[in-house]
Amino acid sequence: RTEPLVLGIETSCDETGIGIVRGRTLLSNTIASSMDEHARYGGVVPEVAARAHLEALQPSIEAALAEADVALADIDAVAVTSGPGLAGALMVGVGAAKALAVSLEKPLYAVNHLVGHIAADILDADAEPLEYPTVALLVSGGHTSLLLVRDLTSDVEMLGETMDDAAGEAFDKVARLLGLPYPGGPQIDRAALEGDPKAIPFPRGLSRASDMAAHRYDFSFSGLKTAVARWVEQHQAAGQEVPVADVAASFREAVVDVLVTKALNACRDYDVPRLLLGGGVIANKRLRDVALERGESAGVTVRIPPLSLCTDNGAMIAALAAELIMSGHEPSTLAFGADSTLPV
Ligand code: KG4
Ligand code: ZN
Repeated sequence: RTEPLVLGIETSCDETGIGIVRGRTLLSNTIASSMDEHARYGGVVPEVAARAHLEALQPSIEAALAEADVALADIDAVAVTSGPGLAGALMVGVGAAKALAVSLEKPLYAVNHLVGHIAADILDADAEPLEYPTVALLVSGGHTSLLLVRDLTSDVEMLGETMDDAAGEAFDKVARLLGLPYPGGPQIDRAALEGDPKAIPFPRGLSRASDMAAHRYDFSFSGLKTAVARWVEQHQAAGQEVPVADVAASFREAVVDVLVTKALNACRDYDVPRLLLGGGVIANKRLRDVALERGESAGVTVRIPPLSLCTDNGAMIAALAAELIMSGHEPSTLAFGADSTLPV
């Protein structure tokens, strides 16, 4: 098996990620983020993200090539995220990838961002190769999805996803109503340190028996966000001081509980003893700890790649394309566009 040298481009949200891999080996992974530009709006602004990608792409590609110590002419294939994500942001990466592939006269692979997150695991040099089938839980500011992976390159099934806000988005919104800055995840985490996770019984979305029939693997965080807002308002209206630490800890516990419960339900239902975690919310230590703890008692091995591979990056996109190439998949034609709701 020859190992293709692949350059991957990721621009689905606010990270401009360029990654270079040789087969399953990570050579470089450069990330430029426009997060700071979005901070004052409390969330990612698509137009701002797209412009930032346009400016960051060229220098990022040069930096990735330098870090990998390879020349552009030596690249065997170009890979790009074609969706899901923010349409305008995706278009910048797709346009750049097409231009690069045409000028280099090299094959181009359009890949799915969510499947890319799963492929990130391949680049974890310290881990044993991932076995299949595996359940994957992907949680970030843009998505919250539960997938059943029977084969990375040909059989990935979406079991469920969020019906409203992504888990990271819920962290951002709750942080905002507690007066904490963006991005909210790390802020809530810090505030929760001194709090009691059992102080307030916030709702676990789509977890009632009546919801479970149609939404066993789906998530909902907007009701939780509203419950937190209402709780805070009532305390303020009564002239009471809001116990930020307890609210943060109880909110975080509600999110973590529902994520881990549903992921382990999927493992049990499909008789899969493996769970892979991915996405930027994996930075949450409580989520990692609860997943590892409850996974162990359920006989499920929980895999958590290093955080630099869990957040949005180009290396995971390159890694997925390398797998496609090594398993004999044909490249994409130039006729694809950006698809903000691309299915797996
Ligand atoms: O994957 P990611 O870097 O990119 C986007 O989705 O854009 O994820 C960012 C999200 C943000 O919503 C942020 O608040 C959340 O991940 N996040 C966290 C933590 N660190 C980042 N959420 C919970 N706990 C954290 N420690
Ligand atoms: Zn992502």
